Amino acid sequence: MSQAEQTLESIQSDFDRIALLADETWNHNAHYHSFLINQIPVRCRHILEIGCGTGEFSRLLAERAEKVLAIDLAPQMIRLARTRSKLCPNIDFIEGDVMTYELPDNQFDCIATLTTLHHLPMTDILKNIKKALKPGGTFVCLDLYQRSNLADLFFDTVAYPANKFLTLKKTGKFRPAKEIREAYAEHGKTDKYLNLPQIEQICAEILPSALVRRHLFWRYSIIWKKENEEKA
Ligand SMILES: C[S@@+](CC[C@H](N)C(=O)[O-])C[C@H]1O[C@@H](n2cnc3c(N)ncnc32)[C@H](O)[C@@H]1O
Repeated sequence: MSQAEQTLESIQSDFDRIALLADETWNHNAHYHSFLINQIPVRCRHILEIGCGTGEFSRLLAERAEKVLAIDLAPQMIRLARTRSKLCPNIDFIEGDVMTYELPDNQFDCIATLTTLHHLPMTDILKNIKKALKPGGTFVCLDLYQRSNLADLFFDTVAYPANKFLTLKKTGKFRPAKEIREAYAEHGKTDKYLNLPQIEQICAEILPSALVRRHLFWRYSIIWKKENEEKA
């Protein structure tokens, strides 16, 4: 078995475990849902979500689209996404690896992905996204980054107490349940992130007009609009 296959397998089994533990109460991704949704055109024909998890954000996307295609590697994530999205017949949930799934060129008005990009080869996936977006389409991404300088350290220092306060306010608890923390800690042992300068450099090469923004809770966003005259 190759290293790449091993990694894919471990990502899948980690998220199958997490799917069965995590509920859809407030978390750091949900904190940014409205910011991300506000970047998307109000009416879209086709939207793609990469790494949809249990489909919480897919259901928000479905309010703006005729069709949402939502793909995730972990079978348990897709099973729960289908169960929880029975009221959204315009979402197609696909179990699979986005790197081998054949995406049509110039198809999507919007492509969205939340805390999944770091599992993928960034240069290749951004090129695929660029091809699959329609001219005029929007790419919205939220992901995690590796701390690499004093500014990151400063943001971390502010994020910790803000996180405690908001977690308590939104969930009534100081932190998530022990089994969820343990599952994420196990997954975190093999998780790797790029730092912000590396992310900015890759975006400058592939999506030159992309807006890369740092957010408080250990995340950054990329917002990019494909030029109208830009073909795949
Ligand atoms: C941290 S979770 C985020 C899930 C969801 N976006 C959310 O905000 O709750 C990352 C997701 O990416 C999926 N994933 C990782 N690698 C993938 C790949 N190559 N193709 C499709 N999905 C992938 C995992 O199975 C997992 O559900």
